[in-house]
Amino acid sequence: MSPTTSRTTPRPRVLSGMRPTGRLHLGNYMGALYNWVNLQQDYDCYFFIADLHALTTDYADTSQLHQNIQDVALDFLAAGLDPGRAVIFKQSEVMHHAQLFTLFSMMTPIPWLERVPSYKDQQAQLTDKDLNTYGFLGYPLLQAADILLYKPDFVPVGADQVAHVELTREVARRFNLFYGPRSKTTTQHLQAAASDKEKMVALEGEPRTIAEILPEPKVLLTPSPKLPGLDGRKMSKSYNNTIMLSEPEADIRAKLKTMVTDPARVRRTDPGNPDICPVFDLHKVFSSEETQLKAAEGCRTAGIGCIECKSWVADAIIERIAPIQERRRDLESRPSVIDDVLANGKDRATRRAQQTLDEVQLAMGLR
Ligand code: TRP
Ligand code: SF4
Repeated sequence: MSPTTSRTTPRPRVLSGMRPTGRLHLGNYMGALYNWVNLQQDYDCYFFIADLHALTTDYADTSQLHQNIQDVALDFLAAGLDPGRAVIFKQSEVMHHAQLFTLFSMMTPIPWLERVPSYKDQQAQLTDKDLNTYGFLGYPLLQAADILLYKPDFVPVGADQVAHVELTREVARRFNLFYGPRSKTTTQHLQAAASDKEKMVALEGEPRTIAEILPEPKVLLTPSPKLPGLDGRKMSKSYNNTIMLSEPEADIRAKLKTMVTDPARVRRTDPGNPDICPVFDLHKVFSSEETQLKAAEGCRTAGIGCIECKSWVADAIIERIAPIQERRRDLESRPSVIDDVLANGKDRATRRAQQTLDEVQLAMGLR
């Protein structure tokens, strides 16, 4: 976008959040943060640490929570989120999230939440936790509040979050239907309506020309490359197969040596197939075209061994994240920077959120 257009037309707004699960791994980075950093060029950005959402699953032991929040904040800044270009904040420090969540909870039918796929999936998967809680059922509704408070045009998320943004759109629609601006005739029909059902009918037919109180945001699907962990499954903290963004070089090399390869390549003299090798998936993300060709060729002809192939991918990863690690070390030596960034983000987010909450409270008859 040219400097002229950015001055005359407001940039479209994006908002996204991340649960503080501890230091970020390469999967978190490539699947979200890297994309957020790039979005700062063209969008008015709001990015936050979803610490309340962390509590929906990890409420029973919060001993790591504070450290995890600090680590995520460090990774955000080290990776290139820039407080000069994005509002960076902590969810729990802007109380409006909790307030709007409460108001939404009044008008959201329970089945809407029960049928969100992640609800039953996560309950089935995280069997070591009791997720039969009000907060966990409300997870996507809290997310709807996170989003709608800032009226973003887009929500950059991965495919796993699309259902949550869809619910957000439904909540916005229902809110606007109940409390949005409406014509004289609809108002008359509403007053004449004897039951809730009749009111719904009067509202449904309403032509909508005036700006909605809560505009429905769209998903901005994050392109996320396939990033396997050391065991070949998707890189994930719960599989214990990760490489951290802040992992020391020697550890990255040592970990990669243990990574699974094409299982058919038992001996150094056996040719391999890069198309089914998880190490090669890492080459595709991090290595140059030239190195990829060299590795694929060497693998198929048994011209190289897996150790060598892995050392090339280690080189590529290390080179890629070196500037991030450098910035992280610098930030670690100045701990007040994080506090200042989050304090500033809190103020800026609060100002925006307050506007929306004022409108919501007025529309709902609370003022
Ligand atoms: N649920 C999201 C995740 O696990 C995190 C999140 C919370 C979020 N609130 C949000 C993402 C609002 C986008 C917008 O990744
Ligand atoms: Fe995988 Fe590389 Fe070994 Fe081939 S040489 S099996 S791509 S690690």
